[in-house]
Amino acid sequence: MIQDQLKQAVAQAALDHILPHLTRQSIVGVGTGSTANFFIDLLARHRMDFDGAVASSEATAARLRSHGIEVHDLNSIAELEFYVDGADECNGHLELTKGGGGALTREKIVAAVAKTFVCIADESKRVDFLGGFPLPVEVIPMARGHVARQLVMLGGNPVHREGVVTDNGNVILDVYDMRIIDPRQLESDINGIVGVVCNGLFAARPADLLLLGTHNGVEKFGR
Ligand code: A5P
Repeated sequence: MIQDQLKQAVAQAALDHILPHLTRQSIVGVGTGSTANFFIDLLARHRMDFDGAVASSEATAARLRSHGIEVHDLNSIAELEFYVDGADECNGHLELTKGGGGALTREKIVAAVAKTFVCIADESKRVDFLGGFPLPVEVIPMARGHVARQLVMLGGNPVHREGVVTDNGNVILDVYDMRIIDPRQLESDINGIVGVVCNGLFAARPADLLLLGTHNGVEKFGR
């Protein structure tokens, strides 16, 4: 199977997982990226069976609306049962690296609100140790130099993602060569740098369920 077929398979598995729980009042949290896009396109076939969605990016909001799915403001929602999103890397503890598409901050906010974070990924994303994929860090623009110097002191090699402005008006530093022994500690350490808005480690709030698309079928990890 080619990679897109694996993404399609995990998107379908995520839909199969959440559909029995949806009511006409349900709102679904939806992530960003190519795997999430497969999920959106499948979810749209059931748009009469739930109320709408919250989106982790402007791109996702636009795709949802293009299918006729109402997009809600997260602040107007009391609770969110499911958040479905992809990842750039995932380890055996369901800790993730995200933000390859630059949407990490809103992704982390929606994941924080959701009761169940369903991560969908093809098997190329599965790693023993996070850090092979450069770690995205969203930064207030005027703090870019300061944050970069602090990231060097943490052992990384930050590179400005040229030409990219996030949905929140900030910039991204991609941190290469970071040895991530303790993802939760590093997530906290990077968040402690003044000028950092968010980093792409999802360890304090990992996925609850990982659906991994493999050539032997969709494997499930977690609850
Ligand atoms: C978006 O900012 C990212 O966190 C994506 O969820 C992640 O990059 C996975 O994207 P793909 O599904 O396109 O690989």
